[in-house]
Amino acid sequence: MRYENQLIVAEGDYVIAHGRFSGNGRPAAWVAADVIRFEDGLLAEHWDVLQDEATQAESVSGLPMFGRPLPFVSGRPPRNIHGTQIGAIMNLTGNTIFITGGGSGIGRALAEALHKRRNKVIISGRRKGHLDAVVKANPGIEAIELDIADPASIKATAKKLIEEHPDLNVLINNAGIMELDQAAGVIDDKLLVSTVTTNLLGPLRLTSALVDQLKSRHGVILYNTSVLAFVPLALTAVYSATT
Ligand SMILES: NC(=O)c1ccc[n+]([C@@H]2O[C@H](COP(=O)([O-])OP(=O)(O)OC[C@H]3O[C@@H](n4cnc5c(N)ncnc54)[C@H](OP(=O)(O)O)[C@@H]3O)[C@@H](O)[C@H]2O)c1
Repeated sequence: MRYENQLIVAEGDYVIAHGRFSGNGRPAAWVAADVIRFEDGLLAEHWDVLQDEATQAESVSGLPMFGRPLPFVSGRPPRNIHGTQIGAIMNLTGNTIFITGGGSGIGRALAEALHKRRNKVIISGRRKGHLDAVVKANPGIEAIELDIADPASIKATAKKLIEEHPDLNVLINNAGIMELDQAAGVIDDKLLVSTVTTNLLGPLRLTSALVDQLKSRHGVILYNTSVLAFVPLALTAVYSATT
């Protein structure tokens, strides 16, 4: 759950905070007014007024309940919105989505779920057998062989994607490797280079190669990271640093 505050007003012993709770597991965020009363410097009362955030179609006045722009939940993005949208909700249907590491694990699960939601899904990875298995089990999913540690492979993949899928509007950077190391000892250089190249440089290079295409389609870029970015694990310190 995420809380964003927009405005706080205070008068006498009363304070009102206007904010938004998102990530609440529901389609709409809550727009909230927290009304607080103090007595002798201590919290005496706290009331919440919660309302589902209206989408552009639902807003009678056309004005947003919280910040700008208005969220859109279904259909195409409003015409007057260009470039990067902050606070908008990604449309989960009708996209053309490229997923790295889509031949196994989380990437495969994401690919299949998004395919079922009527998106065009293209997966990638190094192991052709894994890619073929996903394509066979999910007619309509396509696959491209990609080694994200290799800049030439990234360049070729981006070119092919843009040529063959001009509607491409979503990139999901999911491919990654996690190897055990020893934070208190000498780090194996091969492990260091391959982890940083695969998990950090690769997604940045791929994003850079596709960013103009994605911007031209009001695109979305997602990175699959890890809780280890916030709570690093000594047993896998290099990996933690790349998430
Ligand atoms: N599992 C977890 O608990 C967890 C938690 C937090 C974050 N994550 C992150 O989630 C992502 C997916 O993890 P997973 O658990 O689903 O593991 P996984 O099944 O091992 O998936 C990793 C995928 O990345 C691909 N990949 C690895 N190196 C690549 C390269 N050089 N070029 C192209 N593709 C490459 C692999 O395909 P090929 O080997 O065929 O290339 C594989 O399909 C990773 O980035 C991981 O760090 C996982």
